Amino acid sequence: MRPMIRAVLLLIVIGGLVAAALIYWVARTGLSARVPPSAVEERLALAMRRLATPTAVRSRPNPIAPSAAVIDEAVEHFADHCASCHANDGSGSTQLGRNVYPPAPDMREARTQDLSDGELFAIIENGIRLTAMPAWGTGTPEGERASWGLVHFIRQLPTLTPEVIARMEQLNPKSPAQFREEEETRRFLAGEDPAPAPAVSTPTSHQGRHD
Ligand code: HEC
Repeated sequence: MRPMIRAVLLLIVIGGLVAAALIYWVARTGLSARVPPSAVEERLALAMRRLATPTAVRSRPNPIAPSAAVIDEAVEHFADHCASCHANDGSGSTQLGRNVYPPAPDMREARTQDLSDGELFAIIENGIRLTAMPAWGTGTPEGERASWGLVHFIRQLPTLTPEVIARMEQLNPKSPAQFREEEETRRFLAGEDPAPAPAVSTPTSHQGRHD
């Protein structure tokens, strides 16, 4: 019994030391999202994610064929919903993708391409906890079909052509300001009159009136 107590005490002391070292490290370095995750942290997170995906899901084959229509839809979907973080080419080099923690990975590389179709599907449907990756599943057969289409598209990222990327740029969500600017350029180039300026309300209408 005594060696047992000694072992437990030793474990408590080691645990305390590790916790103290961790607190010291966090207090010194802070928890900024602006530094890349350490290799240990990344490996641990990926291992946990793999463990959390049931084998049945991981080994699910893609049930839909990569027809031109399916890929077309996925291209539109990706440009509209995913490119803000992942970039049209899947590199993750966007303002958002680079600065969330952990950052959006380069999906053209082995880290993503080595995942099975089932794993990619599960990630798209369920998201990844404690990261910026949202869950896109809607619980409907149409939603699942769209996610399987995105899996096909993700497989094409390493060999995406400039033509497809140019098409995606047309489909990326635009702010009203960007839209207006592009519309003005288009009108200017087409030789049309500039768009009428929006009506400006007169700021004096409530001033100096005593009626
Ligand atoms: C708000 C930002 C954001 C949006 C929008 C987003 N993602 Fe992600 N995604 C991430 C981040 C961050 C990760 C990395 C998480 C991690 O390190 O575990 C990720 C990871 C992934 C992964 C796993 C890749 C890997 O190697 O770990 C897939 C697949 C994926 N996203 C697909 C998509 C698809 C498809 C869409 C659109 C329907 C999408 N994402 C939209 C932020 C985003």
